[in-house]
Amino acid sequence: MASKRECESLVTASKPSLNERQIVELAESIFHLTVSQVKPLPSYDDQNFYIQAHCDNPKEFAEYVMKVTNGENSKDEELIEAQTRVMMFLDSKGLPTPTPVLTNTGKLMSLEAIENGPVAQKHMVRLLTYLSGTPAAKIAMTPGILFNIGRMAAVIDDTLSKEFNHPSKKSFDRGDFIWNLSNTPFLREYVHAVKEEVLRDIIEGVIKDYETSVAPKLKNFHKCINHGDLNDHNILLEKTTSLGHDDYKVSGILDFGDMSEGYYIFEVAITIMYMMIESSDPLPVGGHVLAGFESLLPLTTDERDTLFTLVTCRFAQSLVMARYNILLCPENEEYLLTTAKTGWKHLMNLISLGKEAVEKIWFKTA
Ligand SMILES: Nc1ncnc2c1ncn2[C@@H]1O[C@H](COP(=O)(O)OP(=O)(O)OP(=O)(O)O)[C@@H](O)[C@H]1O
Ligand SMILES: [Mg+2]
Repeated sequence: MASKRECESLVTASKPSLNERQIVELAESIFHLTVSQVKPLPSYDDQNFYIQAHCDNPKEFAEYVMKVTNGENSKDEELIEAQTRVMMFLDSKGLPTPTPVLTNTGKLMSLEAIENGPVAQKHMVRLLTYLSGTPAAKIAMTPGILFNIGRMAAVIDDTLSKEFNHPSKKSFDRGDFIWNLSNTPFLREYVHAVKEEVLRDIIEGVIKDYETSVAPKLKNFHKCINHGDLNDHNILLEKTTSLGHDDYKVSGILDFGDMSEGYYIFEVAITIMYMMIESSDPLPVGGHVLAGFESLLPLTTDERDTLFTLVTCRFAQSLVMARYNILLCPENEEYLLTTAKTGWKHLMNLISLGKEAVEKIWFKTA
């Protein structure tokens, strides 16, 4: 595996800070849009803006998202190209993903030197189509929705592993990318950000469990490229009515910035963890997501056997990195603690119940 350290502190330090006027100027100069409205969207490492633009017919308007990548990740054009090619590929297979609008020179993206005080930093700028739907975070989860989300996770992994062959694909081997579940042991470098000793001990326990019960088995698992971030803000839902009752289908899969080489079981674990966070009844969530995933991609007994530990690993990654990011930018504390609010409670609850009891609940459904 390549040893390419993506430095979290550099990513955070190079977050863009464009104002709306700069966004309008970029939309006009790079994409020839006549902007009628612009507003900021939530952002973690990058900056995202909603843009509404006039069309030839004055009664119509078009909607877009402008994504301005942080300075550090903007240096890796091939990786951004790979993420963008995945969106285009999935869209061509009928999946609901944003697609890029080409620049006025016919490119997928444009590297722009953007002034920020006395210095200029280069940021990759892309314009993506805007997808309709409501973020899953705003909708009360039902077993049916969780099943649909689990199935969509499988559709993504399956479609990509069978057919996605763009040359940029190799950049998904992201070395020690901290969000790849196989890099759980690297959390030891960041765990000092957790002030409470009792919580640091929990994290160390999760890492040890990963090293003894997951790492030795990975070589036999189904490999694939993972979306790697199917959280409830990266999934859009739309109401459908079938046989007289309301249901929701996935109308948007967003945010391909955390893609990397992984395994089917990683995608399941990540999706379960995020779906648990905001749930009022978190334990059964895993069973519904797993059932949806396995309706397309059945897992082996060995893969299933690592699911509990991998879900705890994702909680550990999310909780430790939230604390670490607060050290870097204390002003983002409120946003960064979204996951953490209930996350520690869920993680402690899983550990105190234990693998066997939790699996019993999950596997009964799936
Ligand atoms: N193409 C789109 N269509 C509709 N809504 C979008 C689209 N892209 C982004 N959004 C909205 O903006 C939010 C943030 O976008 P996104 O998930 O891409 O960035 P992020 O999670 O902040 O990550 P980062 O800042 O690291 O790129 C989404 O959760 C969604 O609500
Ligand atoms: Mg997101």
